Amino acid sequence: MNSKFKRTLVTAALPYANGPVHIGHLAGCYLPADIYVRYLRSIGHDVKFICGSDEHGVPITIKAKKEHTTPQAIVDKYHNIMGNAFKDFGISFDVYSRTSAKIHHQTASDFFKVLYDKNVFTEEVTEQYYDETAKQFLADRYIVGTCPKCANPNAYGDQCERCGSTLNATDLIDPKSTLSGSKPVLKQTKNWFLPLDKLQPKIKAYIEKHADWKSNVYGQCKSWMDSGDGLQPRAMTRDLDWGVPVPVKDADGKVLYVWFDAPIGYISATKELLPNNWEDYWKKEESRLIHFIGKDNIVFHCIIFPAMLMEHGEFILPDNVPANEFLNLEGDKISTSRNWAVWLHEYLEDFKNMQDVLRYTLCSNAPETKDNDFTWKDFQTKNNSELVAIFGNFINRTLVLTHKFYEGKVPEATTYNKEDLLVLEELAAAPAKISKAIEQFKFREAVSEWMNVARLGNKYLAETEPWKLIKTDEQRVKTIMNVALQISCNLAILAEPFLPFTSKKLFDLLNIKPLRWAAASQTSNVAHGHKINKDELLFSKVEDEQIQVQLDRLQKSKEDNLVNAGPAEFKTETTFDDFSKMDIRIATIVAAEAVPKTDKLLKLTVDTGIDTRTVVSGIAAFFKPEDIIGHKVCLLVNLAPRKIKGIESRGMILMAENAKGELSFVSPTKNDIENGSVVK
Ligand code: MF3
Ligand code: ZN
Repeated sequence: MNSKFKRTLVTAALPYANGPVHIGHLAGCYLPADIYVRYLRSIGHDVKFICGSDEHGVPITIKAKKEHTTPQAIVDKYHNIMGNAFKDFGISFDVYSRTSAKIHHQTASDFFKVLYDKNVFTEEVTEQYYDETAKQFLADRYIVGTCPKCANPNAYGDQCERCGSTLNATDLIDPKSTLSGSKPVLKQTKNWFLPLDKLQPKIKAYIEKHADWKSNVYGQCKSWMDSGDGLQPRAMTRDLDWGVPVPVKDADGKVLYVWFDAPIGYISATKELLPNNWEDYWKKEESRLIHFIGKDNIVFHCIIFPAMLMEHGEFILPDNVPANEFLNLEGDKISTSRNWAVWLHEYLEDFKNMQDVLRYTLCSNAPETKDNDFTWKDFQTKNNSELVAIFGNFINRTLVLTHKFYEGKVPEATTYNKEDLLVLEELAAAPAKISKAIEQFKFREAVSEWMNVARLGNKYLAETEPWKLIKTDEQRVKTIMNVALQISCNLAILAEPFLPFTSKKLFDLLNIKPLRWAAASQTSNVAHGHKINKDELLFSKVEDEQIQVQLDRLQKSKEDNLVNAGPAEFKTETTFDDFSKMDIRIATIVAAEAVPKTDKLLKLTVDTGIDTRTVVSGIAAFFKPEDIIGHKVCLLVNLAPRKIKGIESRGMILMAENAKGELSFVSPTKNDIENGSVVK
């Protein structure tokens, strides 16, 4: 640990209180933050872990409108759901506060006043978009349009999720109100701006002092400042009725911008936790501030919040902002509205008490340096081939044999041979490797180093075979089992940041009070003669059927979405010329057979009236060959030939596909119309 710092304040991004928690949240910042904090606690460092619900902002008011209720009702509901989900998964916040709390309103309000009194803000009357139907100013997520930087047609008024640019609503091309769908008009209003343009040199100097940040974070910060016109002034107030009221005169109907108040939520939550000494964590150079976030929050934590803190003057600045990239699910972006997610509360219903399996999978596969994919198959493999087959197997063998040979009493190691000494040496070296990785925010590497310790143990038992040796060399087996028990105990210590539930269970099985990190450099934590508890399995296999249930659920989401989304999205405009390039003819299917070794494809012979040709078609799931012979169909005859499973396919049969993916032929209504007739 960097000895420059006496204490550390770790924050995890305050999630919007407008929906339950899914695996993307967990993998993005809560799990890495939790691992980091648990590790710091274990090494005895003074650390506090801060989080809470972000309860202001437009997404919440939109959700309230949709559900015909008030924003307060929405945040009350989700604040509890989210807090519980985090607790259920062992995310060990010292405080989980909320930004609608009185203490937060007061803190954010005071913060704004300080900047206001120091004349940090520029007060400007500007033209902002206004929805005349809804009678409301539009900002942030109330407005969508085309991103001026990357042409994404669905950019929001505050940010483009495709290219990550921060935007002002007035930057959008072809803006539309998300409230009424109407084209907004411009109307004058007064707001207070943070002059990021003027502050740029200071911010730049701050960022450049932190070239050690994760390269995805540092790179993004640099490119914002260095590209185009650099940083732009940003309004810190909004014409809205949900949020912290702007605490100055002539500001009726205005609230603080959610990205102004939310990060101050970290301060308010610290105050709530430590009413008497919160300032130690925020105002002393010997304290270290670390923000764990997802990549869409980088600009707010690395540029805007530090600028606010600098201008305020009393606070330390973030020392590191480890941001993860995004986690996808089965190859697709996680989405609440499309229900394409694994919800934590649902997971626990299907995988009771298996929090650590998810923690392990998400950590091993964390999107640390690039977007990553969660698949159920991979989840099953991580569980079955690693947690069960390596770690679980090792622990189970050790405990079972200790009971079998010694009635649960730890045997004494008498003489170590070379093999034992090598294993003990490697065991003692493990904590330093794991520490190093954690301190560099490389959690994937850290957890894999931990699994390597289990691998070491597993291999040791497989090679020494105490279950056989017991018949010939009882003395030697005592040493082996003692070593195996030391490995087990150290695994429990080192597992704690990653798999806290398992760590606790394992300590219970060993009948040992949880030990701290430093003990894991010792190889004699379990005394001989000590009695361990009854053995119990730590992990069990995940069966194919369990995985199928999850895949079916996702498939259902997909189908529901198609039903909802299908006809609403037409392809972009085309021309008659382009359409007439396609030569579509009536043809008759004269022969059909399944393509061997596939379950989707049929090989069809069709009579086009001009020739007879082969077409390979992906319709086998819906039609039996014998049922379609004689059918008249529409065939695109001038499609470039393609080889499919070694068969040359010439043309494509037109099919209609409904929302569920079911296929039907597109056929002429007059069955005696001649083959070769033109479809136009
Ligand atoms: N609510 C924001 C999000 O989910 C994160 C806010 S982080 C903050 O993207 F702490 F700064 F509030
Ligand atoms: Zn963009």
